[in-house]
Amino acid sequence: MGKEKLIVALDVDTVDEALALVDKLAPHVGMFKVGMELYNAAGPDAVKKIIERGGKVFLDLKMHDIPTTVAKTARVLTRLGVSIINIHASGGLAMMQATASAVQDEAAVKGVQPPQVIAVTVLTSMDQNALNTQLNMAGTVEEQVVRWSKLAQQAGLHGVVCSPREIKAIREACGKNFTIITPGIRPAGVDKNDQERIMTPAEAVQLGVSYLVVGRPITQADNQVEAAKAIVEEIEG
Ligand code: C5P
Repeated sequence: MGKEKLIVALDVDTVDEALALVDKLAPHVGMFKVGMELYNAAGPDAVKKIIERGGKVFLDLKMHDIPTTVAKTARVLTRLGVSIINIHASGGLAMMQATASAVQDEAAVKGVQPPQVIAVTVLTSMDQNALNTQLNMAGTVEEQVVRWSKLAQQAGLHGVVCSPREIKAIREACGKNFTIITPGIRPAGVDKNDQERIMTPAEAVQLGVSYLVVGRPITQADNQVEAAKAIVEEIEG
């Protein structure tokens, strides 16, 4: 179903605002993304309340630390019952492997569904010049994204978050079962806000995206339910 592919970004900083969106949108979308803003303002309680109301949660905390610390934190997040968590691929193979196995182990011990563990590759705010001259990484952004996607796959992660323009290369490199999540999605004719390189839902789906993260085109629409339904129709179309 098209709506399973749609993740709404809850970029708000109070539980009340988040739950108002969840109550309205839960029947029409697949998941809600809780980012650092909401999580640091309202904590695990916000996540628990969203799940209690029938919303699935992508907890977008982009963890990056030594293997033990990230793996132990991933265990805590697994117990919360979230559906997706993410970590930085630049944390390296050992960090990603430790996290993937901690999540499986914790889920088995607690008898819960393990969340998908997803890697963040090159932040879309980085361009090739910054990659080459500041981080001293050779090659293009796309090459680095593909390199890290393969490393994430080797570590046993489920997939990556990336920009829409990298979907095709990652799909080719990592195969059809690899999860690809992209923000930067704008239906035709909608305000692009501060997003630069955008793609429509239909284009991203054609390239093989697994999940689309959409924030303001839904949350700031006059009719949020209609905006979500229109995107789902485009995904299915
Ligand atoms: O409102 P909008 O649709 O632009 O929201 C996109 C969401 O995806 C936001 O939560 C934003 O932080 C996140 N995101 C992004 N670009 C990235 C990584 C995350 O827009 N490269």
